[in-house]
Amino acid sequence: MIFYFTATGNSKFIAERIATGTNDSMIDIAECVKADKYSFAIKDSETLGVVLPVYFYGIPIIVAEFLENLNIPLKADTFVYAVLNCGGTTANAEKFINQRMSVNAIFGIKTVDNYVPMYKIISGENINVRLDKAEHDIDEVIRHIKERRNGGVNNFKGVFPRLSTSILYLVYKYGRKTKEFTVNENCIGCGLCEKICPRQIIKLNKGTPVWEEERCEICFACLHRCPESAINYGKNTAKNGRYLNNRVKL
Ligand SMILES: Cc1cc2nc3c(=O)[nH]c(=O)nc-3n(C[C@H](O)[C@H](O)[C@H](O)COP(=O)(O)O)c2cc1C
Ligand code: SF4
Ligand code: SF4
Repeated sequence: MIFYFTATGNSKFIAERIATGTNDSMIDIAECVKADKYSFAIKDSETLGVVLPVYFYGIPIIVAEFLENLNIPLKADTFVYAVLNCGGTTANAEKFINQRMSVNAIFGIKTVDNYVPMYKIISGENINVRLDKAEHDIDEVIRHIKERRNGGVNNFKGVFPRLSTSILYLVYKYGRKTKEFTVNENCIGCGLCEKICPRQIIKLNKGTPVWEEERCEICFACLHRCPESAINYGKNTAKNGRYLNNRVKL
């Protein structure tokens, strides 16, 4: 059983490859939260995985809350693991996993950074290089899971991981302001942003999206997946590009 959270597809891409390699099934955390579903049963010898993006050297609030509410009576031989999917550095994001569940192994996988308020999306050629390398690293994760090896591998903790996480995660926790979102004249009122928001806080008003709460996940699913690139966040996202992992279906 593999739980995953994704905005632009990288975590789904990882979860899907692990599911294929370990003959496992996948469950979308956003759909569970929408359905208020937190109780699951696990079979003997089954593995339990969580695949998620790293946000501000920590984990998305929605994933943190999901793990706190998750109710799965584990078997004596359940192997539990987490995969931290990052654009470059996880720092000490594993802390937030360890606080919420007892895991056998935690892995770090680097894919493509989608944080467009600060970074430009890398070129298509570099995306392919990154994802090829990620596929190779995911295959190593699959070997660990199949052999039920404890510990895990994370080569993306960066320098001073504990300090970095303790500072940056506060920015995320208290700074997730939806007032930075704007919509331009390219919006065609298709309603996709409203439909896919994992927090269900976007509502269309006369065909234009309105963010109904002050804070959100800042997952940027709405921004990256808008078919007209009509959504921006702050001043930089218009020039920094859009990204969706094209090796997976969203
Ligand atoms: C709000 C936000 C914060 C992020 N913070 C980090 C970070 O601290 N370290 C990092 O390496 N990548 C960071 N990223 C990049 C994502 O972790 C990365 O692009 C990930 O692959 C996205 O996964 P997804 O495609 O499954 O949504 C951040 C992205 C977002 C949207
Ligand atoms: S997804 Fe884009 S085009 Fe569709 S309603 Fe939202 S902002 Fe408008
Ligand atoms: S409003 Fe956009 S960024 Fe915020 S949670 Fe919804 S989809 Fe994600």
